[in-house]
Amino acid sequence: MKILHSSGNYQIHFLPFTGSHDVVVTDENVAGYYPDLLGENPIVVPAGEKSKNLETYAFVSQELLKRGVTRKSRIIALGGGVIGDLTGFVAATYMRGISFVQVPTTLLAQVDSSVGGKVGIDLPEGKNLIGAFHPPTEVFIDSRFLATLPAREYRCGMAEVIKYGWIMDEALLSELQEPPTDLSSIVQRCIKHKAMVVQEDEFETLGIRASLNFGHTVGHAIEQITHYERYTHGEAIAIGMVLEAKIAERLGIAPLGLSNQMTWLFEQYGLPTQYDSTTYSQDLIEIMRRDKKSEASEITMSLVTVPGSCKLVKDVPHNVIAEVLGE
Ligand SMILES: NC(=O)c1ccc[n+]([C@@H]2O[C@H](COP(=O)([O-])OP(=O)(O)OC[C@H]3O[C@@H](n4cnc5c(N)ncnc54)[C@H](O)[C@@H]3O)[C@@H](O)[C@H]2O)c1
Ligand SMILES: [Zn+2]
Repeated sequence: MKILHSSGNYQIHFLPFTGSHDVVVTDENVAGYYPDLLGENPIVVPAGEKSKNLETYAFVSQELLKRGVTRKSRIIALGGGVIGDLTGFVAATYMRGISFVQVPTTLLAQVDSSVGGKVGIDLPEGKNLIGAFHPPTEVFIDSRFLATLPAREYRCGMAEVIKYGWIMDEALLSELQEPPTDLSSIVQRCIKHKAMVVQEDEFETLGIRASLNFGHTVGHAIEQITHYERYTHGEAIAIGMVLEAKIAERLGIAPLGLSNQMTWLFEQYGLPTQYDSTTYSQDLIEIMRRDKKSEASEITMSLVTVPGSCKLVKDVPHNVIAEVLGE
């Protein structure tokens, strides 16, 4: 599959990645599972979101210098979304930009973060506050990586898979009523959806790419208020999707019962659907107003209208959000 973007295109290969002479950047877990894919002198960073920071960004850049990596070289991001975002951002800025290849090893990275060119790191003040659009030159999707994925990370990726169903693929929802037997064909289908959306709206200026944000306005606020410790991203957005469906029901945008349908499906995959905390809904709303996607503190949400379709709703009334969050 080929993805077109403003400065060229890249191939997505549904093939095993068999190793490379280029420098591989990975995390400690992936390095432990896949020692034969690391090449000669890999750069290995600690696993987890904490590596998406300025220190690790400087560390990886300096390690590339030590290895004599030049502007003509390319580097390999072997890992989940953290490694893809971090390595991609290093690649975007190292010597004013070098090529990089994405080899996503989590379900989330395969169906979402490895395609679309967004790369970046976090600041102590918030996630993804520094970043760039820097598409990879190639992506290798190999479902065999998923065999070693911890169950919680698998569920996290399934939340994004199910999201594609709600926003743009009703048939996928029907298929997912039963646990998938052919995950690789589902992964391919999700990548096709992501590819279509990012090709139409590469820089997220037309409101099309924003549709992928269903569940994320509320989900990100929940992640932030719980300091990224209590829920994985997938868990937070599963809760976010259910709550945003309730908001859509209240606004008369979606039929009553949609949020119950979502709750049922997420439960089949062991995902949480309720935000069980005493946090005040006003604090969550405050975070949503400061989200980098909000304009003039109006809250915008991508809301599902019927299963398989969504639309961008601007200026979602704060009182409706507060009502739903407060229940
Ligand atoms: N750029 C984008 O468009 C985009 C989109 C969505 C998410 N993201 C980013 O992606 C990140 C989350 O990605 P993630 O969920 O892949 O997290 P992650 O990279 O932290 O991986 C999750 C865990 O799984 C481990 N792991 C990875 N592959 C494995 C394998 N094959 N077997 C066993 N363990 C494995 C990792 O070591 C880690 O502990 C976030 O930082 C998020 O902001 C970016
Ligand atoms: Zn997401």
